[in-house]
Amino acid sequence: MNAQPHEMAAVESLLAFWRDAGVDACYLDAPVDHTHVELPPPAKAVQRATASVAPPPCRDDAAQEARALAASAATLQDLAAAIAAFEGCTLRGLGATQSVFARGNPNAPVLVIGEAPGAEEDLKGQPFVGKAGQLLDRMLAAAGLTDKVFITNTVFWRPPGNRTPSPQEQAACTPFVERTFALLKPKAVLLLGAAAARSVLQTEDGIMKMRGQWREWRLNEGAVSAPAMPTLHPAFLLRQPQAKRQVWADLLALAVRLEGESHLSAGIEGER
Ligand code: URA
Repeated sequence: MNAQPHEMAAVESLLAFWRDAGVDACYLDAPVDHTHVELPPPAKAVQRATASVAPPPCRDDAAQEARALAASAATLQDLAAAIAAFEGCTLRGLGATQSVFARGNPNAPVLVIGEAPGAEEDLKGQPFVGKAGQLLDRMLAAAGLTDKVFITNTVFWRPPGNRTPSPQEQAACTPFVERTFALLKPKAVLLLGAAAARSVLQTEDGIMKMRGQWREWRLNEGAVSAPAMPTLHPAFLLRQPQAKRQVWADLLALAVRLEGESHLSAGIEGER
């Protein structure tokens, strides 16, 4: 096939749109017109697909090792060092040049969680510093949230080709995400995109269904919990700018909730 560059760009944009909408698995090497062509036998189709797309698995004990390392971190700074020392996530050996943990206010009332570092983030060692991050910063500033956020991702190494991290790669890193939550104790959590929302909230729901709705993120031990708002990923907004109004509505709901919480705690303090 000799596709023109503009055709390739259109295909890439469509694939990215599907990915952000939660369609993140490809079961056949080539598209099949089900109205005209017979499906190949399922066993063969699955074999071909897994051979071409499956990322290398993380070690079985990766999450256990991560949990031990994360538990030993008493501060967010310790946690950054623990992540840098962690070798259990296979993404680390797939071309990433360094670990990318977090940026922002270490006393922030809002924890923002994205999907995974991209090329710019890998280069600079900080999350959300590329085009999507700049858009995120502009929207946070417009909602008055700039100094109120601490920003991280579900995994801490750049996936090759900026693909979505696999659930297994996310699971290997989850203890660090949970420790970030436990150390920061935010008043609210903002989840950017389907991959972050699904990993944190342990759901298969699509982002279009989840966005704009408050859910509860509670750690197993129950010691830490906070309301979590899934919203659309800023990289999606770069491709679909008309969706910015939905994210704007979600950010305003977050800002209003924070405002309510601070009035509430000021009231409680006043009564003491
Ligand atoms: N996209 C993400 O999800 N995280 C980043 O850090 C950058 C882009």
